[in-house]
Amino acid sequence: MIIAIDGPSASGKGTLAKKIAAELNFSYLDTGKLYRAVGFNMLRQNKDLGDEIAALNMAKMLDYNDLDNPQLKNDDVAQAASKVAVMPDVRQALLEFQQNFAKTPPVGKNGVVLDGRDIGTVICPDAHIKLFISANVEIRAKRRHKELLDREEPSIYQQVLADLQERDERDSNRKQAPLKAADDAIIVDTSDMTILEVLDFALRVIADKPND
Ligand code: DC
Repeated sequence: MIIAIDGPSASGKGTLAKKIAAELNFSYLDTGKLYRAVGFNMLRQNKDLGDEIAALNMAKMLDYNDLDNPQLKNDDVAQAASKVAVMPDVRQALLEFQQNFAKTPPVGKNGVVLDGRDIGTVICPDAHIKLFISANVEIRAKRRHKELLDREEPSIYQQVLADLQERDERDSNRKQAPLKAADDAIIVDTSDMTILEVLDFALRVIADKPND
């Protein structure tokens, strides 16, 4: 079974995807990390973030063992990721890895769950379950701000909000594979929901899905 979870930044889709994977013994891929790793390498090598040739080379040479680098969480890396993610060649270079992951879950796993922006629309259009997780941008900014403070990282709410708005705008309005709910996705507005309520809802959707 393939579960596709899409949604804007800081919507809670990653937390949900991880919990679903743990609950159902599924394998999980956070596809944002692929774009973050490309963005991170561009920053580290002082490349101009508009340099499509450099970004494509980074995407082609991506070492998939680097995805656990904790620095990928940083906000400058998130912005860089969103910038390289508008480039069609970069997206194409990362597509095969994601589709292979979806097609071949590791032995012993019951399925896969991928989260990102275009999983239900482009990467896995035939996914068995598609969820689009959203929340009001102020609420997402508050959650993200709290998460940073909890990690004892400096954070200014207005800056977090402005960063999310900038990323939403870029991710939603790019030509290639923009952030958008697939026609057959279930849209979940989590603005007034706890993560456990969202998880409960998602597990019910999955349990109710007839086997095809
Ligand atoms: O989910 P995230 O915040 O880690 O993603 C970082 C950036 O990567 C996001 O702003 C847009 C891009 N991205 C994408 O374009 N497509 C995906 N499937 C996942 C992420």
